[in-house]
Amino acid sequence: MKRIAILTAGGDTPALNATIFGAVQKANDLGIEVYGLIKGFGGMISPQLPHVRLNPLFSTIPELDPCQGGTIIGASRTYIDSNDKKQLQSVAARMERLKIDGLICIGGDGTINGMQPLSEYFPCVLAPKTIDNDLGLNYIDEPNEWVKDENDSIHDGYRHASTRDAVSLGEIVNYVTPGYATAVFVVAQSIERIRTTAESHRRIAIVEVMGRDSGYIALGAAYGQPDIILIPEVELDYPKVIRRVRELYDMQKHVVIVVGEGVQDAEGQLGAKSKSVDPAGNILFSGAAERLAEILIKELGDDYFRKNQRHDEAKSAVFTRKVGHTQRGGRPILFDRFYGAQLGGEAVEILNRKQNNHLATLNWTEEFGFTTGQLSANKLRDQWGTIHAREVHSSLYSKQRFQPSELGRQYFAPIFKNAIGHEDMEAIKSHLFSPDNLLTRYQSFNVEMQKRIQYLD
Ligand code: F6P
Repeated sequence: MKRIAILTAGGDTPALNATIFGAVQKANDLGIEVYGLIKGFGGMISPQLPHVRLNPLFSTIPELDPCQGGTIIGASRTYIDSNDKKQLQSVAARMERLKIDGLICIGGDGTINGMQPLSEYFPCVLAPKTIDNDLGLNYIDEPNEWVKDENDSIHDGYRHASTRDAVSLGEIVNYVTPGYATAVFVVAQSIERIRTTAESHRRIAIVEVMGRDSGYIALGAAYGQPDIILIPEVELDYPKVIRRVRELYDMQKHVVIVVGEGVQDAEGQLGAKSKSVDPAGNILFSGAAERLAEILIKELGDDYFRKNQRHDEAKSAVFTRKVGHTQRGGRPILFDRFYGAQLGGEAVEILNRKQNNHLATLNWTEEFGFTTGQLSANKLRDQWGTIHAREVHSSLYSKQRFQPSELGRQYFAPIFKNAIGHEDMEAIKSHLFSPDNLLTRYQSFNVEMQKRIQYLD
């Protein structure tokens, strides 16, 4: 391989630049040129194929900083239509004109679907990323457990007929995805900060976190010590939740609840699901926390709070907050920087071996710790060709305690034990209250990158 392209697709994560950095460093070692394609698959559709040389003369451009969140080459949720042969052919022709020998897509399950049709024209490899931590498998034969079930509206007509009571941590395919650790870092801190205000004002805080149908971020929030964690994979049992809220409120005069945005009850999704404006038609989740608040307000009632003069009405005692896009932004913590870069490098090696339609994976075993590997993208698909978001396996969550189970705690240990580097703390100390911040405007990497963008004539 002489020249490869790289793009970032789907929602951003803090680890994207680190992954691109790892790929470019590996390419420098192998004497491969790397072109960054602008704004994911959206840039490929453009007749001018906007691109940036990321390692002219095999040295990495200075704008590519693995410590900076976001992506210097831009991201979009635009995907190429696999049925549009004309579009695919013109994309392939443009890539040929640019003398691109292979493509690395940094993304999640949607990106694999976008990449697959292109892999019929040139070799493609995925470097994983998603804050949702839902790209992977609890065990290798998991995709074969999905069955079609028209009554299952939550999983778009599929049902997971799981056969396993527990997972073995060493079997997990793609143990963790870059971006997840930083998202949990942000969420856990948010919980700690909400806690003291809920505690002081005798309130019930419901904090909604991202993750779509997957509860990994919500479960990871356990590091911030919320009282109750509700994940989308486990149907809400209202009487049990309300009983626990009362017990906790009676004892400590406040409660902190974390809810994954895709949480569901017997009726289905708690919040609303709506088609997003993005061209991939991704589902947007909204309102789970508000709905849960409505239910708690009704079930607990005003008298419950008046009784001990804690609040005049239930409405003033219960409040909701979304951690929102801060989960996806800012400086990546050490774990994400390091393993994002490793996976970027692994993706280049896979591509250099001319292995097509594969993904780089991050696996963990007791014996060897974290190691990178590779997997054919088709291994993630069920028999109908669908890739399902990885679910938090039931053995990682305790329904009784609304907390990670013993195995869940073991799952987290290798990720978070040394996830934060000293330099992460040092960066906060030296940067946040720097007097220069008051003097100088934010310098966007978009401005510098614009100067480097080239186009096909
Ligand atoms: O998939 C990543 C994610 O951050 C989800 O957790 C969340 O539901 C969604 O993207 C939000 O998408 P957008 O940034 O388009 O609002």
